Amino acid sequence: MHSPLPTLQQIPASIAAVADYEPFARERMSEQAWAYMAGGAADELTLRDNCAAFRRLRLRSRALQELSGGHTRLELFGQRFEQPILLAPVAYQKLVHPDGELATVLAASAVRAGMVVSTQASVALEEIARSAQTPLWFQLYVQPDREFTRELVQRAEAAGYQALVVTVDAPVNGLRNREQRAGFALPAGVEAVNLRGMRTLPPVTNRIGDGVLLGGPLLDAAPTWRDLAWLRALTRLPVLVKGVMHPEDARRAVAEGIDGIIVSNHGGRTLDTQPATIEVLEEIARAVEGRVPLLLDGGIRRGTDVFKALALGARAVLVGRPYIFGLAAAGAPGVCHVVQLLRAELEVAMALTGCRTLADIGPTRVSR
Ligand code: FNR
Repeated sequence: MHSPLPTLQQIPASIAAVADYEPFARERMSEQAWAYMAGGAADELTLRDNCAAFRRLRLRSRALQELSGGHTRLELFGQRFEQPILLAPVAYQKLVHPDGELATVLAASAVRAGMVVSTQASVALEEIARSAQTPLWFQLYVQPDREFTRELVQRAEAAGYQALVVTVDAPVNGLRNREQRAGFALPAGVEAVNLRGMRTLPPVTNRIGDGVLLGGPLLDAAPTWRDLAWLRALTRLPVLVKGVMHPEDARRAVAEGIDGIIVSNHGGRTLDTQPATIEVLEEIARAVEGRVPLLLDGGIRRGTDVFKALALGARAVLVGRPYIFGLAAAGAPGVCHVVQLLRAELEVAMALTGCRTLADIGPTRVSR
């Protein structure tokens, strides 16, 4: 095993794009942390396809359009954002940087990017909120202990979180073979601090052969649409569901009074061989008919990917691994830089396709 290098003190000029962070991040992470952060489920087909599907799409330039007074601002749930790129919830960020989520929130605040904080953050949700000068949303995993879940939602509200993002695509861990092969386990000092004190179920691993899931305690306690209705009634915050990949689920979410939908396959970490998110976006947008905002994540590595998602029906996007690799390589400045790179690339794409504002970005700018 190699010993990881120290965090970069300066961002090298050779980092010109988000993907350039990967090697710098990798040599600053343990093998196990790399397997956890970079890996996906099973054969990682969905993980790879999320990126590949964006690459298959082509943009159509437009000449001589009026661009004066352009901007990338948007409003979501009454909250103002400078640009449509948010930081996706990613668990256990202390795995890659000693300050973990506190470095990320510092960066998000500096570039005014929205941040979604994971239930499984390695820093207390209140502590993250105290450092935030940008809209924070709380990502909720409904816990088997519903009373604890209720308290978690109340804590997030009290701490000033401005939306609840209920992740619905991971009632069990995906079978992340890469993690298992690398012998991943959380090191001492990294834990899901927000879940301290919860009554827990017998441990469930993601190894085949360790036990039965169906009919076992974990899936008996798995959330259903009833829990979503309960959450909807429990909080005054806007509620988004994250992990919708089927138009029927999107329709149902709207019917349940949900405020927003995040089209996501968990970055290819849950069910392998699902389609790429960008491949299902239009179908879901047709089902939702503009009744609630759609967001998308998975595979965004370029500002042109952000543009494509917006063109095909998303109001905003989230990125996961790109900023985690920025964090691992260079701490908070790395996270800032990743957001700025994506935003700069988005703005170039907007200028060259003749889009003054996000509202001008539409399907006529993309071809297959
Ligand atoms: C995640 N993701 C995730 N999602 C969530 O709702 N709660 C969580 O705690 C986590 N944890 C997590 C850990 C790691 C290491 C990764 C890579 C991802 C999924 C995340 O929010 C998002 O959907 C994907 O990361 C988007 O794909 P990209 O941008 O990583 O390709």
